[in-house]
Amino acid sequence: MDVAALQTDRLELRPPAPTDAEPLAEYHARNREHLAPWEPVRPEEYFTAAHWQREIPRLDAARRAGTLAPFLLRGRGTPGGPIIGRCTLSNIVGGAFQAAHLGFSLDREAIGAGLMTEALNAVLRHAFGDLRLHRVMANYLPANARSARLLRRLGFVVEGFARDYLQIAGVWQDHVLTSLVDPGR
Ligand SMILES: CC(C)(COP(=O)(O)OP(=O)(O)OC[C@H]1O[C@@H](n2cnc3c(N)ncnc32)[C@H](O)[C@@H]1OP(=O)(O)O)[C@@H](O)C(=O)NCCC(=O)NCCS
Repeated sequence: MDVAALQTDRLELRPPAPTDAEPLAEYHARNREHLAPWEPVRPEEYFTAAHWQREIPRLDAARRAGTLAPFLLRGRGTPGGPIIGRCTLSNIVGGAFQAAHLGFSLDREAIGAGLMTEALNAVLRHAFGDLRLHRVMANYLPANARSARLLRRLGFVVEGFARDYLQIAGVWQDHVLTSLVDPGR
């Protein structure tokens, strides 16, 4: 397993590879209704392998440039199995900030089993360890009770409230702003 991949008791987390175009299209098509209230409006082609064939090299270039750490979640020991979730550190900045944003989603069938808590514990160890980040920020819609509970469980602290912060489901929406500062420093 290369350095960019992470493992937990139940999961393998890997950056998207060229062979993931079809599984990524399937993940998003399968979860289209489930994710729609929490994500930007997606064009029809977002749900096609052709889109992901173009997108994966872009994600990989950003990963190699050090600005993005994207992970696809699969059950441990099932490398060719379906994608059951995604999590991504984006906008990775160094210098005096050493910070990133965190985003995540789970397949609707995988919710309620602690899988994202497990995945993010590994991603946060990676963020504060290998990536030497100091702050990870995660923001959620006030109605997103599952995200609020997940982030609280991981130790994220509410730092504020931003009006009209992101255009989600076609509407500019307020968000709760949270962050986790490197617990080791
Ligand atoms: C946000 C999201 C990833 C949270 O999923 P989740 O399943 O609630 O999170 P976890 O995987 O950590 O599971 C925690 C739940 O599993 C339960 N659980 C069961 N077994 C568990 C275990 N071994 N360990 C921890 N929790 C366990 C917990 O009690 C908890 O349920 P509760 O919150 O009802 O008490 C998911 O709801 C999702 O994909 N939502 C749509 C996309 C989205 O909102 N993205 C974020 C935008 S900010």
